[in-house]
Amino acid sequence: MEIVAANTEQTQKFAEEIAGVLKPGDVVALYGDLGAGKTTFVSMVAKALGFTDRVQSPTFVVSRIYGGGSSTSGIKYIHHLDLYRMQDSGDVRDLGMEDYLNQPDSVTFIEWPEVAEKYLPEKSVRIFFETLSENERKIHVQNLH
Ligand SMILES: Nc1ncnc2c1ncn2[C@@H]1O[C@H](COP(=O)(O)OP(=O)(O)OP(=O)(O)O)[C@@H](O)[C@H]1O
Ligand SMILES: [Mg+2]
Repeated sequence: MEIVAANTEQTQKFAEEIAGVLKPGDVVALYGDLGAGKTTFVSMVAKALGFTDRVQSPTFVVSRIYGGGSSTSGIKYIHHLDLYRMQDSGDVRDLGMEDYLNQPDSVTFIEWPEVAEKYLPEKSVRIFFETLSENERKIHVQNLH
């Protein structure tokens, strides 16, 4: 599935669609350059799922957990990881990725997932963000059930 969002409102609409099909236990790897819109997308999905916690870039803490989602989705927590500062897969191993990935009541989003590729479940959803212009983003979704 691929769309071109002409502005943030269109990205929001798309995020709402994705939120509607995400299930507890899903892992979503978010690819794309700096400023492509990965964190923005997590924030939009969280909002669509009824989470009220503020979604911020976890760059300086590696991971955040948001609680308080709506009960209808069955998703109780959102784990938000940003592996930008991980040097190699050894760093990722030390982080204890399994703890994040085996959360049956959570959805886990991972920004800069390349370094963790070998730890990602095969069933992971992959979303690729591409900056086309200041406000346009190409968003390509792979492996969504
Ligand atoms: N169509 C669009 N969809 C989403 N974001 C957009 C769009 N147009 C402009 N933007 C802006 O792009 C920026 C995306 O920043 P964001 O922090 O989400 O990027 P990121 O991919 O998480 O970057 P980083 O790798 O630094 O974490 C935001 O300021 C957002 O408002
Ligand atoms: Mg980010």
